[in-house]
Amino acid sequence: MTDKPYLVDVKRQYESFPYPPRDPADESQRLIASIPASLMAVNHHCFGGKKDFRSGFRCLVAGGGTGDSTIFLAEQLRDYDAELVYLDMSDASRQVAEARARVRNLTNITWVTASIMDLPGLGLGEFDYIECTGVLHHLESAEEGLRALNAVLKVDGAIFLMVYGKYGRRAVYEMQSLLRNYLPAGLSMHEKVQMARQLIETLPKSNSFIRELDMWGAEISAAGFGDAGLYDLLLHSQDRSFDVPGLYALAESAGLHLSSFGWRTDDYDPLKHTNDSTARNYLATLDLPRRQALAEVMIGNMRKHEIFLARQPDRGAKLTDDNVALRSYGMLLKNAAKIAAAMVPAPGAVAYCSDKNFKITIACTPVSKIVYGHMDGATPVSVLRERIRMALPAIPPEMVDQELEQIYHQLHACGCLYLVRAGSYGVGIPDYGKLVIRCRPGGPERGVHSADAG
Ligand SMILES: C[S@@+](CC[C@H](N)C(=O)[O-])C[C@H]1O[C@@H](n2cnc3c(N)ncnc32)[C@H](O)[C@@H]1O
Repeated sequence: MTDKPYLVDVKRQYESFPYPPRDPADESQRLIASIPASLMAVNHHCFGGKKDFRSGFRCLVAGGGTGDSTIFLAEQLRDYDAELVYLDMSDASRQVAEARARVRNLTNITWVTASIMDLPGLGLGEFDYIECTGVLHHLESAEEGLRALNAVLKVDGAIFLMVYGKYGRRAVYEMQSLLRNYLPAGLSMHEKVQMARQLIETLPKSNSFIRELDMWGAEISAAGFGDAGLYDLLLHSQDRSFDVPGLYALAESAGLHLSSFGWRTDDYDPLKHTNDSTARNYLATLDLPRRQALAEVMIGNMRKHEIFLARQPDRGAKLTDDNVALRSYGMLLKNAAKIAAAMVPAPGAVAYCSDKNFKITIACTPVSKIVYGHMDGATPVSVLRERIRMALPAIPPEMVDQELEQIYHQLHACGCLYLVRAGSYGVGIPDYGKLVIRCRPGGPERGVHSADAG
């Protein structure tokens, strides 16, 4: 235990190396988007697709760093009567975040320099949504940190957490261990970075971290997150990772339910990772947490977990809810209707849609042509089903439902499709076609999706 409500070495790191490093001037070039800071995704995962963000929405970004999530949320809430609070213990990080907000002329953010552990006593009130990306695994106790967040959550609110994944970071932990043993005591932070960099540059290709360098390189390279990234990834004084059972235990320790995963949702299904019918039949009999735990080890490369938590289970939107509509997002934001129009259904025919992060393979069938043509946020799913039935009477309804589900799961897993209350898109939640969103080219993967309206 320390006498401070934060870890001194961790604070020192983020005062010297605000993370992620950002140049406020870039705000005139691009808006960095992410799933946990997207009201579209938050609405889907936390509020059944039914939240109206126009008035009274209260949001906290806990451990907001240099402002990525805060800036994106503030842009989406710019014209709404909402409250957005940024909190971080690092003054240097807050200065970068505030400078970014100034470039964008965003005046709807309350800035707080404090520890998450102090939240219950800060008098900030309760929040509908708390976004906490990459922070709890750097606290002395993630469990106590989560309890502090839960203490300022509204009864029907929700929390997003991104924490490190145990199996996907094995090479990182080996490199951390190597550097701990290698670096002499008494070095400054900058000297440590320099010596670490020199060693890494000369390591053989057989080294586990070097083998994965294409995955981690942007995090530590000068063109990526540079020295701040290297320190954060390889020299951090407090770095804890979680496997799926650990996520459930973390949630339970604060009296919360793990409601859904927000990133690579389909990879938490073990059926995706084996073709063997005996294994698949057996896996299908297991309970959900066990299936997800096995899936994580089967795929082996989950570098992080993105989870939505709430006091009630199962808060996400459902395709079985007749009042919700499909709404394309991310790289499909403006493309779904065009894809539908160009589609020529034929047995085995496929189309592709891709950006720098993903490639989607689209089966060109009579049903998918209609479904892609209705990802408008306006047509209730019940009406969509009816239209398919009328247009394709020979296809049994259960086959239509099956294909609709397949399309939904495929696109939702990569952040390209969400469910919203029919008719609320562009009203109770923003019209993303009007926000100019560009990802930082070549930067490290940060759960960023592109929804370029430019
Ligand atoms: C890896 S950075 C993530 C920043 C930001 N959430 C993002 O993903 O862009 C971790 C941040 O958590 C902050 N932090 C760590 N411990 C904290 C604590 N006890 N209270 C408040 N902030 C904390 C650090 O200052 C740092 O800005």
